Amino acid sequence: MSLDFSILPTPCYVVDEDLLTRNLKILDSVQRRAGCKILLAQKAFSMFSVYPLIRQYLCGAASSSLFEARLAREKMGGEVHIYAPAYRDDEFAGIMKYSDHIVFNSFSQWDRFKGQVRAYPEKISCGIRVNPEYSEIGTELYNPCAPGSRLGVTRENFRPDDLEGIEGLHFHTLCEQNSDALEHTLPHVEEKFGPFLKRMKWVNFGGGHHITRPGYDLDTLVRCVRSVREKYGVEVYLEPGEAVALNAGYLVSTVLDVVENGVKVAVLDTSAACHMPDVLEMPYRPEIVGAGKPGENLCLYRLAGPTCLAGDVIGDYSFPRPLSPGDRVVFRDMAHYTMVKNNTFNGVGLPAIILCREAEGFRVVRRFGYRDFAARLS
Ligand SMILES: Cc1ncc(COP(=O)(O)O)c(C=O)c1O
Repeated sequence: MSLDFSILPTPCYVVDEDLLTRNLKILDSVQRRAGCKILLAQKAFSMFSVYPLIRQYLCGAASSSLFEARLAREKMGGEVHIYAPAYRDDEFAGIMKYSDHIVFNSFSQWDRFKGQVRAYPEKISCGIRVNPEYSEIGTELYNPCAPGSRLGVTRENFRPDDLEGIEGLHFHTLCEQNSDALEHTLPHVEEKFGPFLKRMKWVNFGGGHHITRPGYDLDTLVRCVRSVREKYGVEVYLEPGEAVALNAGYLVSTVLDVVENGVKVAVLDTSAACHMPDVLEMPYRPEIVGAGKPGENLCLYRLAGPTCLAGDVIGDYSFPRPLSPGDRVVFRDMAHYTMVKNNTFNGVGLPAIILCREAEGFRVVRRFGYRDFAARLS
C-alpha cells in the first residue's frame, strides 16, 4: 500500500487497520489451531477506537491496572483479565467490578483480598502468578526472572496449602521471543508447578510471544499449547501486546531544522523522549521509510527531538537526498508501546492519532492540544 504521509498533520501516529487485521488473523489462526484464547495486553496498545475490530478476533483484554480493566470493559467487552504486582485497597472494589479474572502476584495479596472476592456476588476466577526462574531474556530491565525479581511466586515461596479458590496459574517470562523460548520454558514451569497445574482450570502463558513477526514458528507454539492443554486438562490463555500491533503503525514527523556540529543533525517535531520512549529505554533503533543505516545512502543525518534533553536522539540514518525543513520522516512499527507511554515533557504536544485503510484513506481519530497538556498539571 502506498500512503501519502505528506498530507497529514505532524507529529502523528498512523495505524493501518489492514495491517492490524492481518496480525489479528494470524492470532486467530493460533486460537483455532491450538484451542487457546488470546487476549490483547493493553499495556502495549490501548487504541480503543480499534477495540471493536480487535474483539472480532480476540476473546478480550489483559489489564495492568484498574483503569485498563475499565477501558477493556467499556470499550472492548469480552473477557477482562487483570494482573498487577500489587493491588491497592481503595481500588479493589473497582477491579472486581470490571474483571473476570484476577491474577495475584503473591499469596499475601491473595490472602488480603480473597474474602472480598468470595463475597462478591458475581463469579471472578482467581489465579496466582508464578516465577519459573527460567527466562532467555538477555536485558535485565525486561527479565521478570532476574534474581530478586518481585514478579511472581517462586517454587520456594509457593503455598500449596493456600490454593483453595485459586483456579489458574500465570507466568510471563518472554519478551519479543520466538516459540522456541516458550518450548524451553515449559519444562521449568512443569517441573516446579506441574503438580498444581493439575488442580487448575486455566494457565496463562503471559505475553512476549512475537507471534506475528515474519519467521515466527507458529507450529511450535501450537504444539506447546496443545500439550499443556491435554496433559493438565486446563484452558490456555496467551496475552501478547506487541504481537497484536506489530508493524501495523507509523509515527510521521516533520524536519524543523538542520544544524551542524561535526555531523548534520535534523531536529524533528517528534521526540524520542516524549513520543517513542522505548527508543531510549530499551534501547532500540526504529526503521525509517526510505532511509537506511549510515553508509547505505549518500546523506547522513542524526535525527533528534525538539526537547532540551541532550540525549533526545533517535539515531543516525542515511537518506538518498538532503533533508530540509518541511520534509517528512516516517518511522515504522510505532503502534505498540508508543501511545501508551508518551508524555508532554517540555510541553511538547502529543501526536495526533490517525487510522487508515487502503479502501478509505486516512481518518483523524484524535488530535491533542494545549488542554491535554495542561490537564495533567495543576
Ligand atoms: C504480565 C504481562 N503480560 C503481557 C505482557 C505483554 O507483553 P508483549 O507486549 O511483549 O507481548 C507483559 C509485558 O510486559 C506483561 O508483563
